[in-house]
Amino acid sequence: MESRRLLTQILVLLISGAHSATFTFINNCPDTVWPGTLTGVSRSQLSSSGFELAAGATYALNVPAPWSGRFWGRSLCSTSAGKFTCGTGDCGSGQITCNGAGAIPPCTLVEFTLAANAGQDFYDISLVDGYNLPVSVTPQGGSGCNLTSCPANVNSVCPPELSVTGSDGSVIACKSACEAFKNPKYCCTGDFGSPSTCPPTNYSMIFKNQCPQAYSYAYDDNTSTFTCSGGANYLITFCP
Ligand SMILES: *[C@@H]1O[C@H](CO)[C@@H](O)[C@H](O)[C@H]1NC(C)=O
Ligand SMILES: *[C@@H]1O[C@H](CO)[C@@H](O)[C@H](O)[C@H]1NC(C)=O
Ligand SMILES: *[C@@H]1O[C@H](CO)[C@@H](O)[C@H](O)[C@H]1NC(C)=O
Repeated sequence: MESRRLLTQILVLLISGAHSATFTFINNCPDTVWPGTLTGVSRSQLSSSGFELAAGATYALNVPAPWSGRFWGRSLCSTSAGKFTCGTGDCGSGQITCNGAGAIPPCTLVEFTLAANAGQDFYDISLVDGYNLPVSVTPQGGSGCNLTSCPANVNSVCPPELSVTGSDGSVIACKSACEAFKNPKYCCTGDFGSPSTCPPTNYSMIFKNQCPQAYSYAYDDNTSTFTCSGGANYLITFCP
């Protein structure tokens, strides 16, 4: 079954022409960031599902199109008794590679859908699962393309009831109100399960005010998805 799926993917690549995009990760933060990558359902993971990116370093990753998945940054990582863990964005794999595991919230997410054949790509920065690091997405090449960025330090304005603190007491990540309170009003579930019944809240507005281009809650307005056509490459910059 698995080999048939692989064969199908190879055939699709041969027929469509093996288009791919280069994602270049840049760490402008003062400290090391460990990016993680997660491919959406029913496709194999990228050539790297997690890697170390020292302050000032860059890392290029080839992403075959079509593809959909997400990227994020992990901070404050260390290895203890052979197990790799991170203060924020940890994927729980115990290793630098995430191997199909996603980020444990709170974590800033970069979500991507790359089209086949240099069609229209869609991408966004999401704070729906909370925030840990500032990040931007910069298309290179392509046509009609939008840069999107969440450059603000949301941790610095995070209310205590949403804050995750590090060992030194500083705020290292900011939870979504949904995660913190598990309340349908913040999670847009139950009676609040549609855009018209789940308006922004005082908590989602904290995120939106800091990063107007990013998704601040599940039914954020339609200003948070960006597009690019023509087979662009992308820069993913931490601390832009
Ligand atoms: C995206 O970029 C295009 C082309 O530069 C521009 O016309 C459009 O207004 C931008 N859209 C947003 C939402 O920024
Ligand atoms: C948000 O509103 C709730 C009541 O709906 C209140 O309890 C809470 O203190 C408010 N939080 C902030 C940060 O404004
Ligand atoms: C936002 O998108 C939803 C569907 O995703 C659509 O129903 C709604 O009309 C859009 N709102 C605006 C203001 O474009």
